[in-house]
Order: sequence, then C-alpha cells, then structure tokens
Amino acid sequence: MNSTAVTGIGELVTCDGTGPDSLGIRCNAAVVVEDGTIAWIGPSADVPAADIRIDVGGRVIIPGFVDSHSHLVFAGDRGAEFVARMTGQPYDGGGIGVTVAATRATGDDELARLLASRIDELRAQGTTTVEIKSGYGLTIADEARGLQIARRFTTETTFLGAHVIPAEYAADRAGYVDLVTGPMLQAAAPYARWIDVFCEPHSPHAFDAGEASAVLSAGAEAGLGLRVHGNQLGPGPGVQLAVELGAASVDHCTYLDDDDVEALAAAAETTVATLLPGVEFCTRSPYPDAVRLLSAGVAIALATDCNPGTCYSSSMPWVISLAVREMGLTPAQALYAATAGSAKSLRRSDIGQLVLGNRADLSVLDAPSYLHLAYRPGVPIARALSLTASGETPEE
Ligand code: NIG
Ligand code: FE
Repeated sequence: MNSTAVTGIGELVTCDGTGPDSLGIRCNAAVVVEDGTIAWIGPSADVPAADIRIDVGGRVIIPGFVDSHSHLVFAGDRGAEFVARMTGQPYDGGGIGVTVAATRATGDDELARLLASRIDELRAQGTTTVEIKSGYGLTIADEARGLQIARRFTTETTFLGAHVIPAEYAADRAGYVDLVTGPMLQAAAPYARWIDVFCEPHSPHAFDAGEASAVLSAGAEAGLGLRVHGNQLGPGPGVQLAVELGAASVDHCTYLDDDDVEALAAAAETTVATLLPGVEFCTRSPYPDAVRLLSAGVAIALATDCNPGTCYSSSMPWVISLAVREMGLTPAQALYAATAGSAKSLRRSDIGQLVLGNRADLSVLDAPSYLHLAYRPGVPIARALSLTASGETPEE
C-alpha cells in the first residue's frame, strides 16, 4: 500500500455538504491518501505517518474541478468566428461543420496529441475529471474513433452523433437520425457512457423535439445515460424532454420559462441543470438566470463546454469567476456547483467531495482562501495536486 500525507492545508474545502454553504471547510488540516483514496482527514498537527509527505505551506485544497461538459476531440480553428460573435453576429451552430471537416481530415495520432495537450491544460488549472463528447466526426467511423481517443483520457465519454445534421444529409434529416440511432450508435456505444443531443429549434442544423427524443430513447435502449444540450439559443423543448426521459443533465438552460424551472426543481434528484457561462461570454449572449434556478430548488452544475465554436476555454476558475460576476452566484455556490454539483450531473459520488473513501482528486490554490477563485479572475492560482513526491515540489 502506498500512502501520502498532504499537510499544512490552511483551508481544506471538502464540499461535503456540511457547514455554511455546504462547503465543509476545515482550517489547518491534513489529508492522508492511500492507494488513490482518501483514508484520513483531520488536524495537520495529528497527521499519521505516511510514505510520502507533501506540505502545501498554508495553501487551500479543494476537490479537483469536475468539468462535466466538453467537446475536446477536434482539429482546426474558428478564431474568425469568435471575432464575428464579438461584432454582433449571432451563433446558430453553422460553424460546427467547419470543425467536422477539419477533424475528419486529421489522423488519429494528431487528434490524440491535440486532445492530450488540452487535458494537460485543464489539469494545470485544477480540473481532475472531464467529460468529453464526440460530435465532430458525424460518420460511423469518425464518431467511434473520436470516442476511442477520448476513452484514453476519461471514462466520462459521451456519444454526440446528434450534434448537427452533417452537410451530406442536409436533404435527408430522417436518414441521418436513422443512422445515429442505428449503426452509428452501435459502433459508438462500446466506447461511450452517455448519449447527448443538440435539441434546439433555433438552429437549422440541430434537432427538434421528435428527433431528439428518438436519439435519446435509442441511446437509453443501448444502455447509455442521457444528457441534453437544451434551451441554449432560445426557448425550446430540451429541458422538458430531459426531465421526462430522466436525463442526468440538461446543459445550457439559458432560455427557460416558468414550466421549465418548475420541472427542473421537481426533478432535482435526477436531472441537473448544467450552466456554461463561458459560452454566453464568448458568444455575447445573455446569461442563464442561475439565482432563479437555485431559489426554485434546482440542482445546478458549472462546466466549461470547451469547444472551438462557443467557448474555447478549459478554465474552470474562469467559469467560477463568471458565475459570480455575471450570474450572481456567491463564490461558495459557484465552487460547489463546479465540484459536487458537476459530479452529481455525472451521477458520481466518488468525486467532487473530499470525504473518506472518495478518490483523492485534490487541487491546490495558491491563495489563502477559496474566495480567490472569483476574486483573482484570470490568475492561474489553481492546479491539480500530484500526489507523488517527484510530481510536487516542496512548498516554502
Ligand atoms: O455546446 N451547441 C452545440 N454545441 C456546442 C458548440 C459546438 C461548436 O460550435 O463547435 C455548444 O455550444
Ligand atoms: Fe456543448
């Protein structure tokens, strides 16, 4: 058995659901990790012996961020599209085809290299679990390939063959839905835990309620859990569909009516509303009403949605600062939503909270308090903590 004691934790934010704001904060704490699992939590002065000791010098330890929504398997660049957004051109999903073409034209090794560098980038900012969607292949072989590559980096892989109707099926939408729900799903399912659909009547490229329902039902039949892109560009059926079908998460939730909020509140144990404020920032769109959701009793999560079209950022600390500054969450609510909340959206109880028996996914903040996540926007204070002696330089 291999054990590591992390000592000198000025502020240990466990997000265990206890105490003010559910953050379960302990001061001057230590954590002992055995074989990757949290085996002991207590005062730093009482820490038991361990093979390796890492003193974090009074810094903050939080649960590693759980980025429960990303589209990281892609090639190509859409910087010019971002500039168009900044000058007022609205997003309608049309640019997805540009990334599909670039991704199809890229070899496996290069695609894996691009993904590996994005994973390094997000770990360097404190993320320890990431969900990765396919959706830039849109052929049987390209979707299966994207998921196979993503699987090398995470178990949280999502089949998003229903991202948009690809150009070659523009005149045969029903044919594409048949492909996604039939042979493409069969090829993708072995490498996927989840299925997702871009359900959006305000995009001519995305899927309507009937099509989305067919995709999700086929996915459930194949044993996949359900996720939905819903209510991103305008009011729509995504939220109601997600709740009806028992989806684990409905993501974006930017345009909701009273019925949507009521349905999400009633389904709070099952369906999480995942908010992606980086998208609103990068597309110059209105933000979701996070405070209304929380007051109604909706379970919320925060994630990046990192993708080349609507938010090319892998930074969960930046998402937290946006959630606080632009959506009115408290720093505590934002941190909880980015850890325990997003873990719940993946139906995972072993991550997102630092409690005995959970995975020892720890991130360290070079700061005296977690408040600095929102207070120091854009400053790289967070990183995933490596628990091997060689991976961590001794602090102070
Ligand atoms: O979550 N809305 C659909 N999919 C992504 C954007 C993908 C893209 O534009 O490349 C999103 O915003
Ligand atoms: Fe997305």
